[in-house]
Amino acid sequence: RYEQNAELLKRLTESAHFFQSQLTQSPSKKKATDYLATERGLSGQIAKVYGIGFAPPGWDNLLKAIGKRAEQQEQLLQGGMLIEKKDQQGHYYDRFRDRIMFPIRDSRGRVIAFGGRAFGDEKPKYLNSPETAVFNKSHELYGLFEAKQNTQNLDHIIVVEGYMDVIVLAQYGITNAVATLGTSVNSQHIRKLFKLVNKITLCFDGDKAGRAAAIRGLEASLPVMQDGKQARFLFLPDGEDPDSLVRQEGQEAFLARLEDANSLANVLFEHARNQVTLDHEEGDAEFARNAMTLIQQIPNDITYRSVLLKQLSNESGIEKEELN
Ligand code: CTP
Ligand code: MN
Ligand code: MN
Ligand code: MN
Ligand code: MN
Repeated sequence: RYEQNAELLKRLTESAHFFQSQLTQSPSKKKATDYLATERGLSGQIAKVYGIGFAPPGWDNLLKAIGKRAEQQEQLLQGGMLIEKKDQQGHYYDRFRDRIMFPIRDSRGRVIAFGGRAFGDEKPKYLNSPETAVFNKSHELYGLFEAKQNTQNLDHIIVVEGYMDVIVLAQYGITNAVATLGTSVNSQHIRKLFKLVNKITLCFDGDKAGRAAAIRGLEASLPVMQDGKQARFLFLPDGEDPDSLVRQEGQEAFLARLEDANSLANVLFEHARNQVTLDHEEGDAEFARNAMTLIQQIPNDITYRSVLLKQLSNESGIEKEELN
């Protein structure tokens, strides 16, 4: 099993090298370099740090380059890079075609999967590797390896939604951002980050999806809270994501927003209040119950839980003992 994965990982590393080489060698390289430099404003240097590449148009570029032997094809298939033809068993074509390629590295720096972005409005906008023996997408965080490599005294990690958010923030000197991979942030992600740093900030796009994701982020954080750890929440203005915002406002302004991020308690109480359907005393009781439901998800040996209980007690006028 271990050796099988080692071969598969080799094919994925070769794939990353192939995609990178296509930025300088493909006959259609101009389309890709123009997109990266002009449309997305990326420097060559940052593209290199994140190993960005190009899957040229065509059905078998990768297959021909690194899948010459049947054994290699089998490994590329296992790695999610090829798809088997429906009517021809043992015949394959490239999964990623005509896309900008983002290698996804595990926290040790090994390439384990890819995200591929279409150039225009083609669907899907992002195509990601399927789950494989080496890629569990609800566990991995894009950019974590790079953040560890390029940030001095890494003590705070920002979690954003997208690949481009991570990369553009890094280009603006904010190298400590990571992204979930097309899933919302979960407790596994947060536990993993709390092993590395004491402070995380969950940052959400200023759209409806972003606000819904923040609530899931809150619920994911509660069961993994520990004393000495802090989770904060940053909501961006309508229509903006970290990529667009840091370009508009620059590094300083983005750092100021991070300084100003909401506390977990703040988000928790606000959510409990927003869920209230009744008015008068009935509404007060509903608020207290909503907040309790959330607070109870924090492990009960955590001092922070007592602090939130006390705050709820103050706000609702209900004794701590009664709340429990
Ligand atoms: N995503 C995905 N599949 C899609 C759309 C999005 O997996 N069809 C994931 C990608 O990881 C993407 C993230 O969700 O980076 C955020 O999506 P979105 O905000 O829509 O995209 P952006 O990152 O802002 O993409 P871009 O700036 O390139 O348009
Ligand atoms: Mn891992
Ligand atoms: Mn979005
Ligand atoms: Mn976005
Ligand atoms: Mn974007």
